Amino acid sequence: MKTSISLSPTIIVIFGGTGDLNLRKLAPALYNLYVEGFMPEKFAIIGTARRPLTNEKFRDTLMDGVNSFSRTGKVNKEKWEKFSENVHYNPTDVKDSASFDELKVVVDKFKDEFGAGTQILFYLAVSPDLFPPIAKRLAKFKMAENEDNCRIVVEKPFGKDLETARELNALLKERFKEKQIYRIDHYLGKETVQNIMAFRFANSFLEPLWNRNYIDHIQISVTEQLGVGERGGYYEGSGALRDMIQNHLLQLLCIIGMETPINFNADEIRDKKVDVLKAMRPFSAEDIRFNTVRGQYTKGWVEGKEVPGYRHENGVDPDSNTETFAAIKFFVDNWRWQGVPFYVRTGKRLFQTSSLITIQFKDVPHHIFPPAVTEHWQQNRLIISIQPEMSIRLQVQGKRPGLDMVLNPVDMVFDYKGTYTTQSPEAYETLLLDVMTGDQTQFMRADQVETAWELLMPVIHAWETKKSLSFPNYSADSWGPEDAEALIARDGFHWFALPLNKD
Ligand code: BG6
Repeated sequence: MKTSISLSPTIIVIFGGTGDLNLRKLAPALYNLYVEGFMPEKFAIIGTARRPLTNEKFRDTLMDGVNSFSRTGKVNKEKWEKFSENVHYNPTDVKDSASFDELKVVVDKFKDEFGAGTQILFYLAVSPDLFPPIAKRLAKFKMAENEDNCRIVVEKPFGKDLETARELNALLKERFKEKQIYRIDHYLGKETVQNIMAFRFANSFLEPLWNRNYIDHIQISVTEQLGVGERGGYYEGSGALRDMIQNHLLQLLCIIGMETPINFNADEIRDKKVDVLKAMRPFSAEDIRFNTVRGQYTKGWVEGKEVPGYRHENGVDPDSNTETFAAIKFFVDNWRWQGVPFYVRTGKRLFQTSSLITIQFKDVPHHIFPPAVTEHWQQNRLIISIQPEMSIRLQVQGKRPGLDMVLNPVDMVFDYKGTYTTQSPEAYETLLLDVMTGDQTQFMRADQVETAWELLMPVIHAWETKKSLSFPNYSADSWGPEDAEALIARDGFHWFALPLNKD
């Protein structure tokens, strides 16, 4: 989080202005930044989409979005009035040069009004097939020429595979400098994810333990209770591997696995992360067979309501081979992590919504207590809960109070709720502010995206070419397919989950 900021005048052009992402995430984030005093003194938000719309109608649409989705609840009328004076709408067909020309006139008008040093951010909150036409026209109309003041924000998915990611990178890099390109992975903006860096690199006790000598294995588990909902059309061409593992989960793995950066500079941190990806063991056909599991949900009951199986969701092929669950055992072949398995799993329609990183430490070298005392013995665990609970727990053995000596695991807990009274910003608030301040630390660099794709391509290819005969293989409200339990149980471990919060 920034501490004191004075931002240059900023124009934010949002392609996909009437889309879901703007209504649910961007507009609430920009409004909250405004309310908390983090927007520049002079700014203009220009929403674009194809359909004609008045400024007033567009502002109302965004207000509905903020009212429904902002972490701070409904808008304050007075503040909204002031904020929305800076919100404008310009109908734009991004495939039509004449229409783009008109957009340029509007942007230039604000640029002239705001004066020298005005920053222009182009946010591509549109479907990926529109990234190329927009990028090409931004370049053609020389709208992002100033490499210090003009930035392009590209949403995920960044490519569909290694080849398309390379093509998109090439297309962007031909027209813009890397320092202008902000590839979003919203997980990197989450408060608890940023805190992993603080926890790892601002505390001295961890580093000596953070390696193969003391760590048994690591689990990264991002489970969701929701199904694909209305996004079936998109998800059919994606699946859990592309949608979650290629980006969010591998990024979490990089933060856990990276070496200590020499400073907090964007490129230094991204260098260290990409080193992890480069050290990850490539998948052989045998690895794919034994170290990966895919699943697809069938119908079931969630909180007393019957929910459809994936193949019955809107926009989904009734014979779909798309995975809604993936579990993979990775290895990072370097000095620090040799031999330590990283188990990663993610899926939709699972029993619990929870993003959890569990570091399980090795057992003590020698047990001095008799078995009767240690019936509930549990190796030490560090549990980083990203959401919904925001906490870090260190699970240690303790003596249960009483006259007899009985040990049981207890948690030493750092819990955001109990420690801080202020609400954490949403990931998009953090990331939008980063774009405005020109800080690329929490954004994906071209080589990170490509290396992550490169690693997963053999799995993607194998899963696509060999149709799963067992799909659907887990019921909604379960923990996924049994094979995912076996994947980790074979090594003597089990997936860890926090008990459900009953608040
Ligand atoms: C998105 C995926 O990137 O992340 C979605 O496309 C997924 O399928 C979402 O549901 C999860 O994000 P969060 O912040 O809700 O954990």
